[in-house]
Amino acid sequence: MRRGEVHSLSINLLIVLLLFLSLHESSCSPLVYLRNSVIMETRRDALFPEISPSTSPQPLFPLLAPSPLTPFTNSTVPKLSGLCTLNFTAVESMMNTTSIDCTSVFAQFLANVICCPQLEATLVVLIGQSSKDTNTLALNGTQAKHCLSDFEQILVGQGAGDNLQQICSIRPSNLTAASCPITDVNEFESTVNTSVLFAACEKIDVVNECCEQICQNAISDAARMLALKAYDLSSMDGSHALSDQSTRVNDCKGIVHRWLASKLEPSRAKDVLRGLSNCHVNKVCPLVFPNMNGITAACRDGIKNRTACCNAMESYVSHLQKQSFITNLQALNCAALLGRKLQKANITENVYNLCRISLKDFSLQESGCLLPSLPSDATFDQSSGVSFLCDLNDNIPAPWPSASQIPASSCNKTVKIPALPAAASGQSGKYAHYVVLTVNFMHMLLLVV
Ligand SMILES: *[C@@H]1O[C@H](CO)[C@@H](O)[C@H](O)[C@H]1NC(C)=O
Ligand SMILES: *[C@@H]1O[C@H](CO)[C@@H](O)[C@H](O)[C@H]1NC(C)=O
Ligand SMILES: *[C@@H]1O[C@H](CO)[C@@H](O)[C@H](O)[C@H]1NC(C)=O
Ligand SMILES: *[C@@H]1O[C@H](CO)[C@@H](O)[C@H](O)[C@H]1NC(C)=O
Ligand SMILES: *[C@@H]1O[C@H](CO)[C@@H](O)[C@H](O)[C@H]1NC(C)=O
Ligand SMILES: *[C@@H]1O[C@H](CO)[C@@H](O)[C@H](O)[C@H]1NC(C)=O
Ligand SMILES: *[C@@H]1O[C@H](CO)[C@@H](O)[C@H](O)[C@H]1NC(C)=O
Ligand SMILES: *[C@@H]1O[C@H](CO)[C@@H](O)[C@H](O)[C@H]1NC(C)=O
Ligand SMILES: *[C@@H]1O[C@H](CO)[C@@H](O)[C@H](O)[C@H]1NC(C)=O
Repeated sequence: MRRGEVHSLSINLLIVLLLFLSLHESSCSPLVYLRNSVIMETRRDALFPEISPSTSPQPLFPLLAPSPLTPFTNSTVPKLSGLCTLNFTAVESMMNTTSIDCTSVFAQFLANVICCPQLEATLVVLIGQSSKDTNTLALNGTQAKHCLSDFEQILVGQGAGDNLQQICSIRPSNLTAASCPITDVNEFESTVNTSVLFAACEKIDVVNECCEQICQNAISDAARMLALKAYDLSSMDGSHALSDQSTRVNDCKGIVHRWLASKLEPSRAKDVLRGLSNCHVNKVCPLVFPNMNGITAACRDGIKNRTACCNAMESYVSHLQKQSFITNLQALNCAALLGRKLQKANITENVYNLCRISLKDFSLQESGCLLPSLPSDATFDQSSGVSFLCDLNDNIPAPWPSASQIPASSCNKTVKIPALPAAASGQSGKYAHYVVLTVNFMHMLLLVV
């Protein structure tokens, strides 16, 4: 029986100050600082009562003496335009979560999985909830500019990074109707079969929605109904007729999301929206793969020199490890993607096996943290700082794609999404092993600023 461990990464305030100085004064990447300034300790924790308390903390990286923990937030009063009429009060709690999910130091490393999905969901709920007063599900261009700016200012005032629009590719146009012809709540409700839509989406099964697409299909149907209205309206406004239908359906999905967010409690709406966006999150590998010439040169030809090949492989993977935290399912996608690229470059031998590459090698190091595949948030408390959940999954070997097989889809019932205890039972195949490990060795990563 293996023991759970709590890895705690501590970065004291001094280092954070150094980090900001370094950002201003050099081209030094913040991650270099994160990597070098991390104090990693193995801590026994009350969360894991089976662990003997006799073992005292063992610093693994005694680079810096631990320092008193300092709260990272120093709320500042945001400078608001005064021109945005959205009801920020209605999403106060969600915005608090968003500012922690998008904490300045971590925003770019959590962007893809935690920060941006939460930020986008919050904007949808903000507009949805405000529609109860305004009766409209979209902002015009002028309002959108002011409201997005105010939204960001409030988050920054609570400790979020000040470049979230850039990190999350959010523009004022994302708060408008774009090419969707319907924004008025009454028109929406007379166009869409709202009882069908609501029944499908009032709550979703985050485990199965990505494959069964019950809510997603209902949203698509509703969006198509809205988009068709463009033809009725095209005589009034030529611009509607210009957009092509698939773009318009896509833009209308955003309107449907906002309508749902107006009918649900904000916390319920959040669960639905994060569950939906999570389907897209886990389908991809968000990492950028740099040029592979180093590996292909060292590992080609039946791998004559294993040391050279694995050195090249490690060096390559270490570049990937600077990019971001990824989920366990994304790591599977990344392993498959890199494996296929290597195979295309005539590396047929399983170099993952040869060089002991594991799934967590694809995620941000030193922590080796793979985020759970289900939506999660970072949390903050005064004593421990910012924390988020990891599936450490001690060294699950990265699966080498088999040349004959089509890439495994996580919707194939023989492949199971990790981190889902209920779904694990009765599953067979290579992923069952993975699930069991995930469930048994859930770790908590504490990033303390
Ligand atoms: C926090 O903000 C207050 C008021 O804005 C300021 O006086 C104080 O120096 C700030 N503390 C830190 C640690 O930045
Ligand atoms: C804003 O939302 C809050 C909470 O939902 C609500 O109590 C309040 O009446 C709303 N304010 C306005 C101006 O509609
Ligand atoms: C959000 O955070 C602010 C400042 O930390 C706090 O005053 C407020 O009560 C929080 N609101 C909610 C709804 O949690
Ligand atoms: C945008 O909406 C606001 C508030 O509804 C309104 O005052 C303003 O005139 C509108 N601007 C444009 C360009 O339609
Ligand atoms: C914002 O809109 C642009 C197009 O205007 C789109 O490419 C982008 O994906 C949108 N961002 C989000 C988060 O929806
Ligand atoms: C919505 O769809 C349901 C099931 O198809 C149907 O029974 C109901 O009459 C429809 N409602 C409207 C308003 O069209
Ligand atoms: C294998 O590669 C390593 C590192 O590049 C090198 O030091 C070693 O001499 C090589 N061995 C052979 C047998 O070529
Ligand atoms: C892979 O090997 C085949 C056959 O040996 C060769 O034709 C092809 O050019 C090689 N591809 C690369 C990318 O080296
Ligand atoms: C599911 O995966 C199994 C084993 O990998 C494969 O044999 C089967 O054809 C797949 N089914 C579908 C529907 O892709």
